[in-house]
Amino acid sequence: MTIQAFRKAVEEFNPIQAKDVDAELERSLTHEWDAQIMTYPNERFPFNEWILNRVRMMGYDLDQLDNLHVVVPQKETFKVTKQLCADTNLAEFRRMVNRFVREVAVPKGRLRPPIAVQRFMNVRIMLPTTPDLFFPYHTGLLYGHGVASRSLWLPFVDVTADEDRSRSMQIIGIKRSRELIKFAIDKRLGMEEMTEVFGKESHQIKAKPGSCCFFSQENIHGSGRPNTTGKTRVSMDFRLAEGMYGDLLGRKIPAGYSHLIPETEEEEERLAQRPPREKVFDNGKNTMFYVGNNTSSTYPIPVHLQRYMLLDYSTRNGLTADLELFDLEDMLHLPTLWHIVEHRNVNLVMYSIFALPEEEEDRNRMLDIALKKGMILHFVNEDLALTSAEDLETIKNYLAFSKYGKSRLPVGLPLSDLSRAYFNKWSASLAEWRN
Ligand SMILES: [Fe+2]
Repeated sequence: MTIQAFRKAVEEFNPIQAKDVDAELERSLTHEWDAQIMTYPNERFPFNEWILNRVRMMGYDLDQLDNLHVVVPQKETFKVTKQLCADTNLAEFRRMVNRFVREVAVPKGRLRPPIAVQRFMNVRIMLPTTPDLFFPYHTGLLYGHGVASRSLWLPFVDVTADEDRSRSMQIIGIKRSRELIKFAIDKRLGMEEMTEVFGKESHQIKAKPGSCCFFSQENIHGSGRPNTTGKTRVSMDFRLAEGMYGDLLGRKIPAGYSHLIPETEEEEERLAQRPPREKVFDNGKNTMFYVGNNTSSTYPIPVHLQRYMLLDYSTRNGLTADLELFDLEDMLHLPTLWHIVEHRNVNLVMYSIFALPEEEEDRNRMLDIALKKGMILHFVNEDLALTSAEDLETIKNYLAFSKYGKSRLPVGLPLSDLSRAYFNKWSASLAEWRN
């Protein structure tokens, strides 16, 4: 489905609601995404070589990634890891990932576009020399991801041999994982107990460049033990989301955590030709900050944390705020925001597209006014800005993707047992308060 067709569907029909998993999602999670090894043409997607080259460009004389611990001093490894994570955002790598998603992940994982892809890839280096630095067992849900998100794990070294077990990742099938997590929650297992219980039931992911593991947010996985192979493991992992289930992504909301990817190579090319942001942002107007807690998504986000994000964004983009205005508590009709948009001739830096009116008609009217006035709206959490009609479409795409204002749960809440437990607790105390 194209993004336009998808948006129309969200507007016209009642989207699948954030409730328990629907039948097709359950089928997908228990089949293609249940810790399945999938292959891809390594010559078309040479991620491993690209990463090796980046390490070499940092000045290390490295022949193969397995030997990284020999060449890169241990103290510098963390810096190298962080640099590699940042490098995965370079246009060239990004386009290779997007192509990989379109040509491999979507068809093999039987996903339905539109698709959003994690913004910052995780590159991980597991040294054989640091027994204290390994990942304990966990699931995506326990890390705040939503049930509909999908994970991919790509090792850039060969960990298919049995003796490579401790430098690979360990994983447990989805059905058993669900039972074990319930057990761990009910019995309040500590980390060491979980390591023991999960360790016994997990198996080694056997993959190498040209293959990868597709898994769900419910599969228990992790290193679970120190790497004792004497060789380094370098891998990359990231997540994907389908628009179909855009409101089932827990705390990792679209646009902030993930990007909608271009649907074609031509689209990629066109986007690459756009003028630089600093130029577009410089329109001669003063800049104002806006914070508030007036939508269901921003209600629990403290304004001082919003402000930190606004400051960080402004610094990065060379903006200075001349005034900060705050929306009025208890006034869900956003009088401050409306006032700024309708009556001030400024640009506005605000926390999120999810701080806009939840009613679609109101929201569209507001965005249209801003655009017509030539007022730039900056959305910090999503790193989006409204500067043109094309930006307006992009913003609408993200709002449709996450079903803003249409989903039963506010955007950014995980649908976990913990959320349920809290809702029950709150609704009981609310009932008491009403009486
Ligand atoms: Fe993980």
